[in-house]
Amino acid sequence: MLSAVLGLFSQDLALDLGTSHTRIWMRNHGVVIDEPTVVAVHRNTRGRRKVLAIGKDALPMLGRTPHDVHTVKPIKDGRIADFEVAEALLVHLVRRVHGRNSLMSPRMVVAVPCSTSDVERRAVRDSCKRAGAREVHLVPRSLAAAIGANLPIEQPRGHLVVDIGGGAAEIGVLSLRGVVASKSVPGGGEAMDEAIVTMLRDRFDLLVGHGTAERLKLEIGAAMTRPPATSRVAGRCLRTGVPRAVEVSAEDVTTALAPAIDAIAAGIREVLEGTPPGLASDVAEHGVVLVGGASSLRRLDIALRDRIGLPVMVLDEGRAAAVTGIGRALESRDLLEAVSC
Ligand SMILES: Nc1ncnc2c1ncn2[C@@H]1O[C@H](COP(=O)(O)OP(=O)(O)OP(=O)(O)O)[C@@H](O)[C@H]1O
Ligand SMILES: [Mg+2]
Repeated sequence: MLSAVLGLFSQDLALDLGTSHTRIWMRNHGVVIDEPTVVAVHRNTRGRRKVLAIGKDALPMLGRTPHDVHTVKPIKDGRIADFEVAEALLVHLVRRVHGRNSLMSPRMVVAVPCSTSDVERRAVRDSCKRAGAREVHLVPRSLAAAIGANLPIEQPRGHLVVDIGGGAAEIGVLSLRGVVASKSVPGGGEAMDEAIVTMLRDRFDLLVGHGTAERLKLEIGAAMTRPPATSRVAGRCLRTGVPRAVEVSAEDVTTALAPAIDAIAAGIREVLEGTPPGLASDVAEHGVVLVGGASSLRRLDIALRDRIGLPVMVLDEGRAAAVTGIGRALESRDLLEAVSC
């Protein structure tokens, strides 16, 4: 009863704590937060940590802090690696969108990887409660992404969705509002950046940061070679130690990205092997749907199609599919109960 009354006043929230971005969806408003998942933390001489900046305010500090300040990325490979910092981020962002009024305790729905352990689930629930939630629901990320992609998951038909984010590719076959087979493949867009850093070091003796590698990926990166393109990249020469710039081709970048794409293709094949034949043939007929930031890599659909032999579609505006999907689940008690884990 009390919960129902509070519900009249609260602004329920859907949360997706991603490796690269934290997104919050609020009823009647849509996505209200989409910020880098980065926290700048000061550690005093007794080892106590205090938050200095979060999200877009903390991002420029990455790699530019004095020795007692650390920039922490609390999510690794799509799962929470530093619960204390992740909770601090959550508390700050929830306060920002929801104010401090304790009477307005929201319901919170959180997207989690399919393979999340009971201990991790409990920790997420506890963190949300401390951030002010009166009720917490957890939804598998691939199911959330499928709802966000408007797939008819209530039907007895198999759909395969891959959410390729910064830290992981979350692969799921879904039917009747449930996950039939799933796998989280570590490595997404940030592993692609890392592969570019390694390629520049090995081929050009050039040391660059992840930000430069990401810029190169966005500028000329593609999953398959395309008309010739080049980009100038500045870094530190590993032989002389002084700044230097080199001309890098799109083909160099494509070659560097291939192993990351192979890993996603292998993950999709593995999930299909664990899918009952009837549902697998639905997938073969309707194809694979890609969402998440890194699914926008040029020609990724074609590169994956060639590797797995199935049609592949990239959802337009699919970056925030998971948080939009759990937001939609928040609007229907029936759907929320069916998809919660
Ligand atoms: N046009 C693009 N081409 C290639 N990569 C892109 C593009 N746009 C964004 N990305 C990459 O997408 C990644 C971020 O995606 P997203 O915001 O979905 O991740 P996330 O949800 O925070 O991570 P995860 O779900 O893995 O925990 C980054 O690595 C970014 O470089
Ligand atoms: Mg994500």
